[in-house]
Amino acid sequence: MIALYPGSFDPVTYGHLDIIESASRMFDRTIVSILKNPNKTPLFSLEQRQAQIRTATAHLPNIEVTTFWGLTVTHARQQNAQVLIRGLRAISDFEFELQMAHTNKTLEPDLDTIFLACSNQHSFLSSSVVKEIARYGGPIDHLVPPNVKQDLETAFAPLD
Ligand code: PNS
Repeated sequence: MIALYPGSFDPVTYGHLDIIESASRMFDRTIVSILKNPNKTPLFSLEQRQAQIRTATAHLPNIEVTTFWGLTVTHARQQNAQVLIRGLRAISDFEFELQMAHTNKTLEPDLDTIFLACSNQHSFLSSSVVKEIARYGGPIDHLVPPNVKQDLETAFAPLD
C-alpha cells in the first residue's frame, strides 16, 4: 500500500520524523510531499526542504520525498496513493485535521486519511517553535536532526 504524507515541513522536525518512521513500518511505500503553498512565505525553499527530508530519512529505503502544487487529493491520485497520513500532536490539532480529512473525503471518496501520533516527547513541537528558538540562538539539538540544525544556523547566522 502506498501512503502520502503531505505538509509544509519548513523545516522537518523530530515530530515529523516520528510520523515518517511509523509510516515506513506500516506501508510498502510512503511519499513525503512538500506543498508549494502560495499562501505561505517559507524560510526554506522547496529544494532545501526536500534535501533536508531526504538526508534525515536516508536510513529508510521505502520513503520518497517529492513536492507538489494544488490539491493534495489530486497529487495523491497521481502518485497512486490509497492513504493520506497526518500527524496529531494534541487534541488541539484534531478539529482542523478532521475537517481537512472530511473535505478530502468529499473530493476523493476512495482516499482515506490515517492519523498517527508523534511520540510524547515531541508533542509540543512545531516547525514554527523550532524557527523561533533558532532565530534567537537557543538549543535545537533535541528538536531537529543535525542537517536541519545546520541549515537553521546558516539561515539565522548574524550578518557581519
Ligand atoms: O504542514 P501543514 O502546513 O499543516 O500541511 C497542510 C497541508 C499541506 C496538508 C494542507 O494545507 C493541504 O493539503 N493543502 C493543499 C490544498 C488542499 O488540498 N486543500 C484541501 C484540503 S482542506
